[in-house]
Amino acid sequence: TSTDTTTPTPRNTRNSDIPKNGTEELNGRPDDSLKRQKSEGPPPALRSDGREGHPRQPSNRTPANYQHPKQGQSVPPHLLRKRDGLLPIRKALPIWPQAATIKAALKKNNILVLTGETGSGKSTQVPQFLMNEPWCTKCIAITQPRRVAAISLARRVAEEMGSFMGSQSPAAKVGYSVRFDNATGPNTKIKFLTEGMLLQEMLRDPIMSQYSAVVVDEVHERSVNVDLILGFLRNLVSGVENEGNKKRTHPLKVVVMSATADVESLVAFFEDRQASPTQGQTADKPAAQREGALARDEMTKEAEASRVATCFVEGRQYPVKTIYLPQPTQDWVESALKIMFQIHYKEPLPGDILVFLTGQDTIEGLEKLVNDYAEGMDKDVPKLLALPLFAALPQHAQQRIFQPTPFRTRKVILATNIAETSVTVPGVRFVIDCGKSKIKQFRNRLGLESLLVKPISKSAAIQRKGRAGREAAGQCYRLYTEDGYKTMEERTTPEILRCDLSQAILTMKARGVNDVLNFPFLDRPPREALEKALLQLLHLQALTDTGAISDQGLKIAKFPLTPTLGRVLVEAAKPERDCLLDAIDIISALSVENVFLNLVTEERKEEAEEARRELYRREGDHLTLLVTVQRYAEEETNRKLWCEKHFVSHRAMQNVMNIRKQLQQQCMQLKLLAKDDAQDQSAPSEARSQAILACMLRGFISNTARMMPDGSYKTLIGNQTVAIHPSSVLFGRKVEAIVFNEFVFTGKAWARGVSAVQLDWVSEVVEAIM
Ligand code: CDP
Repeated sequence: TSTDTTTPTPRNTRNSDIPKNGTEELNGRPDDSLKRQKSEGPPPALRSDGREGHPRQPSNRTPANYQHPKQGQSVPPHLLRKRDGLLPIRKALPIWPQAATIKAALKKNNILVLTGETGSGKSTQVPQFLMNEPWCTKCIAITQPRRVAAISLARRVAEEMGSFMGSQSPAAKVGYSVRFDNATGPNTKIKFLTEGMLLQEMLRDPIMSQYSAVVVDEVHERSVNVDLILGFLRNLVSGVENEGNKKRTHPLKVVVMSATADVESLVAFFEDRQASPTQGQTADKPAAQREGALARDEMTKEAEASRVATCFVEGRQYPVKTIYLPQPTQDWVESALKIMFQIHYKEPLPGDILVFLTGQDTIEGLEKLVNDYAEGMDKDVPKLLALPLFAALPQHAQQRIFQPTPFRTRKVILATNIAETSVTVPGVRFVIDCGKSKIKQFRNRLGLESLLVKPISKSAAIQRKGRAGREAAGQCYRLYTEDGYKTMEERTTPEILRCDLSQAILTMKARGVNDVLNFPFLDRPPREALEKALLQLLHLQALTDTGAISDQGLKIAKFPLTPTLGRVLVEAAKPERDCLLDAIDIISALSVENVFLNLVTEERKEEAEEARRELYRREGDHLTLLVTVQRYAEEETNRKLWCEKHFVSHRAMQNVMNIRKQLQQQCMQLKLLAKDDAQDQSAPSEARSQAILACMLRGFISNTARMMPDGSYKTLIGNQTVAIHPSSVLFGRKVEAIVFNEFVFTGKAWARGVSAVQLDWVSEVVEAIM
C-alpha cells in the first residue's frame, strides 16, 4: 500500500514536452482530422445540457438561454413545454421498459434491490415511477453520497416533471436537502438528499413518518453513512425499531439501488440471512417482539412483504478501447497533460475528455496548466475549456459541467472520483484515469484518521473507463501499466472497514442503538475499531461512563460535523469560553479543502507569503484562518479582488461563508447562540485567542503532540512522531505543544493545520478525560 500523498507538482512539468500544435506526439504524421472537420462546417453540437443518452435518440438540445428552475421561481411557460420535450428521452432510457415491473415489485414487497449501469435512469426515473402509486401518499426520499449529485438530480427531475424546486407552491414537487443547503417546500413529493442529511432526519424522526419510500442510491459506493442507513432501515422495516410505542401507519417501502451487481449480499442482509454468528443472537429477530402486537393476518402480510424483490436493468455501453502506459510513471499530472493535448489535436469534435484525478490540489494545478498551454495554441485549433469538478466546489461552478459546450470547443473535465458513478457528465468520449484516489484511512494503532492517495480498485477502474462509452465508442487512457492494473484489488474496501467510526457510533447512539457491537452491519467493522471509536467518544464526553449518550453528545450528533468539530463548538459555547462565533469561523474554513491557493512557482510562493503576512498569526493556522474569514467577511467592496490580492481562493471563501451562515443558524436552533450575538463579532483579544485554542484542544485531543527534547513532536495518544507541515505558518518554529487538524503522510508523518498550545492546557484536558 502506498502512503504517499505527494501531489505531483505541476512545477515538474517540462514545457518543452507539450507540443504547441500537438503534431510531434502523434506518432509521425500530423493528423488532419480537425482541419477536415473545419472544412465540413461546424461540428455537431454536443448534447451538453446535462443529459446523456442514446445517440440514436432524437437530440433534445436545451436552448442556450434556458435557466434551470430555481427555488421559489414560478414555472416559466417554456419549462412546462419542455416536459413533453423530455419525454422521448426518458422513454429511451434502459429503465423505462421496467417501470411496470418495478411498480409491481413494490406493490407486493416492501424491499426492492435494483441494479443497473450508471446512466440507465435509476435515480431520475424510479421516484417518478413510484410517486403516483396508491401506497405512496407521502414523500419519497432518494439518498446520494454527494451533494452535487443530489442537487443536479433534483434539478433534472424538476425539469422532467415541468415542476420546480422548494417554495410553497403546490407545483413544487421536487426538492433537495444537502448539508448547508435546503430547497424543499410543503409540497415536496420527491426529495433528493445526501446520506448524511437522511441520517440527521432519522435522528429527529426515527420512524420516518414523513416518507412513504426511501430510495438508497449508489449503494455500491459503500460509504459509512449508507451502511448505517441500511442498518437502520433493516431494523425499521423488520419492526425492531419501534421507539417506544411509535409505529408507522403504513409500511415503509425501501429501494436499494446499485451500479454493480452485489445483489446476493444485499438480499441476504435484508432477509436476515447473514452468516455472521453474532447476529443470530441479537435483538434483530423481530418476530418474537412483534407477536401479540400485530394481528395474525397482518403478520402474514408483513412476512410476504418483507421478502426482497430484485430487478436488473440492462445498461447501454459502447465499446471503449483501453490504452495503458508502457512504463509506470510517478508524474501522472504531466502524462495526463500530454495525453489530453494529444487527444485534442488528433480527435475530431465532439468528444469531451474526462480526467480522473485525486483531489482539489491536483485539479486546480492541472486546470491552470491546461489554461496556460491552451492559450498558446494555434488559432485554427478548437478551444479547450477546462472545468474542475470536486465535492467542495461551489454549486454554481459545478453546474458549469452541464452547460452547453461553446462552439468549436472541447471540454476537459478535471474530476475526482465524484464523476465515477455519482455524476453523469454528458459528451465524454475520452477518459484519462490516473488510477488513484484520495481515501480516508483510520489507523487504529495511532487512533488517527488520515487522507491517503491510494491505487483504486479494478471495479473503480472499470467504472471510470465506462464513462467514455456512454454515447459512442470511446477511449480510456490509463496512466498506469497493464501489470499495474492486474495488481489492483478487485473491489474498493467499504469505508466502514477503514475509517474512524466515532461519528457513525454517535449517530447510532443518538438513534437509540445501545448495543453498537451487535448492530446489523452489511460488513462488520473490526471490534477494535468499534472500541476505539467508543473510547474517542468517551474522551469527548459525548458518552457517559456507562456508554449512554450524554446531553453534550446529543448536541454534537445534531451537527453535520465530525464529533471532534462538534465538540469544539459545544465547548466554545460555554460561558467561560465564550468564543462560539470564532469557532464557527474556523470550522467553516476547515470544512473546505483549501482556503489558501496552492501556488506553483517559488516566485509566486514568495509573493503570496508577502501578501498574506497581514493575515498570519503567530499562534498558528487556526487563528490565521479566523483572521482570513473575518477580513473577507468585512470586505464590502470587492471580495474577489481581496482574494486575488491575498492569494486566497475566492471559490473556497464563498463556500466558507455559506457554511458559516448555516452553522450559526444551527447553533441558534440548538440554543447555543442567541440571534443578536451573530451580529456582534470583533477581532479576538489575546484572552479570546487563548480560549479558542483551548476549545480546539478539547475536541482534538487525539491530534495533540508535544515537543521532545530533540525538537521533534510526539502525539500524546499513540506516541507517533509528527512534523509540522510546510504549509503551516508554524513551519520551522519550536513550541512546547501543538494541536493539529489533520495528519498526512508524504514520505513522513505531517501535522497539517497546526496551532501552538500551552502544555499545561494539554495536561488539564488529559486529566479531565483519563
Ligand atoms: O441513476 P442512473 O445512473 O442509473 O441514471 P440517472 O442518474 O437517472 O440518469 C439517467 C439520464 O438522465 C442520464 O443518462 C442523463 O441523460 C440524464 N441526467 C441529466 O441530464 N442530468 C442529471 N443531473 C442526471 C441525469
